[in-house]
Amino acid sequence: MAATTLQAWRAQLLRFDAQGTPLYDSDGLLVTAEGADGRRRVVDAGSHAAVAARHPGVPVQELPGRLIAPGFIDMHVHYPQTDIIGAPAEGLLPWLEHYTFPAEAAFADPAHAAEVAGFFFDELRRNGVTTALTFCTSHPASVDAFFQQAQARGLRMIGGKVLQDRHSPDGVRDQTEQSLLDTEALIARWHGQGRLGYAITPRFAPSCSDAQLQGAAELARRHPDTWIQSHVAENQDEVRWVRALYPQARSYLDVYQRFGLLRERAVYAHCIHLDEADRRLMHETQTAAAVSPTSNLFLGSGFFDYYAAARAHMLHGLASDVGGGTSFSPFHTMLAAYFVGREGQSKLGLSLKPSELWWQHTGGAAQALGLAGVVGTLQPGSEADFIVLNPKATPLLTRKTERAQNLEELLFALIVLGDDRVVERTVIA
Ligand code: GUN
Ligand code: ZN
Repeated sequence: MAATTLQAWRAQLLRFDAQGTPLYDSDGLLVTAEGADGRRRVVDAGSHAAVAARHPGVPVQELPGRLIAPGFIDMHVHYPQTDIIGAPAEGLLPWLEHYTFPAEAAFADPAHAAEVAGFFFDELRRNGVTTALTFCTSHPASVDAFFQQAQARGLRMIGGKVLQDRHSPDGVRDQTEQSLLDTEALIARWHGQGRLGYAITPRFAPSCSDAQLQGAAELARRHPDTWIQSHVAENQDEVRWVRALYPQARSYLDVYQRFGLLRERAVYAHCIHLDEADRRLMHETQTAAAVSPTSNLFLGSGFFDYYAAARAHMLHGLASDVGGGTSFSPFHTMLAAYFVGREGQSKLGLSLKPSELWWQHTGGAAQALGLAGVVGTLQPGSEADFIVLNPKATPLLTRKTERAQNLEELLFALIVLGDDRVVERTVIA
C-alpha cells in the first residue's frame, strides 16, 4: 500500500545538509512519499544511479535540463503591502505615514483581505516561495483571510495580527486590551492547524504601548512554540525616536529584551543599527534577524553588517520585506544581499558565496525560524516543498548557465540573471 504513494522526480538536484553545505547531483533523483497526514515528505535523495537502485518500480517524473531545489523561505514580508511596492518616500517614517497605513486601513474589509491574500500566495508560488513569516494588519479579519487562503493551498505559512495601539492613525490603531484578546483567539483558531503557525506581531516599539508589549510577551510565554515578529534598528530617525521614548533602555533592541520579547522563534526585521552588545544578546537569546536588502536599499535605511553578524553567530536569513522591499523574487533579494555583502567586504573582508546566499533563503532561513529538518533542505524526513527551475529560461541565462563550470557558477548565474521566469513549477508537500 505504501508504495502507491511514492513519487520521484529526476533532474539536476540541489539540497543542503544541516550545516548549510550544498549537495549537488547533475543527474539526481528525489523520492517522496505521502504520510498518513496527507503531507508529502522526502524519503531519499541523491544521484539517480544510487537512489533509483534503492527504489525499484517507483514512478518517476523525468525533468531533463531542469534543476530541483528546496522551496524558498521568506523570513519577513507584509502581505497587505502587496499593492504599495515601489512607493517612493524620503525614508521609513514618511513611507509608513503616506502609503503604508492608508493601504493597511483597507484590510478591515474581509473581502479585500481575501482578494489580496489570494493574489499574494499566487505571487509567492510563481516566485518559488513556499514558506513566509508574514505581517497581516491590525484587523483580525486580515489574519483569517491570510490563513484561509494559505490553508486552501496547503502552504506552510506563519502570520499574525499587527499590534499597534499608539502613534498610529485611525483605521489601523487598535485598542490595547482588545488587541490582546484578539491575538489570543487567533492563536487558538490557527496556530498548529495543519501547516499553519501564529506569530505574535508587535509592529515596532514606537507603535506599541508598554501594556501592549507586556501583554504580547505574556502571550509569548504562555504559547512558547508561537513565533514573535517585529522590526528593530531599521532607520536612524526611528532609532532616535525609540531612544526618546525609552531613555532608560541601553539600546533599541534592549527595549524588546526588557519586555521579554527576545527568544527562540523571535524574528526581528532589519537589525542594521545594532552594536556588539546587541548582537551578543541576539545570539544569547537565539533571536533571529530577517535581512531585507531590497527594502533597506529602497528606503535608504542602511547596510546589514554580515561580517559582524557572522562573528556574533547571530541567526539570520533573507527576506523580501515587501512592500518596503521591491520584489517577491528570491533571486532579486539574493542579488541585493550580495551587493550589501560587498559593502561589508570592502570594509571587513567578508564575501558571500552564491550557495551561502541560497542557504540564507532556504535551509538557513528555516533554521533561524526554528524549522530545521522541517523544510528548506530536501533532507530525508523533511517536507517536500520544492521548486523546478529552468536554467535556460532566457537566451542570456542559456548562454551563462551552459558555460557554468561548477555549482557556484551555476547558482551565481541564476542569482544575477534569474527571476520568476526561471521558476517553472512550485510543488507543495
Ligand atoms: N517598521 C514599522 N512598520 C514597518 C513596516 O511596515 N515596514 C518596514 N519596513 N518597517 C516598519
Ligand atoms: Zn517589515
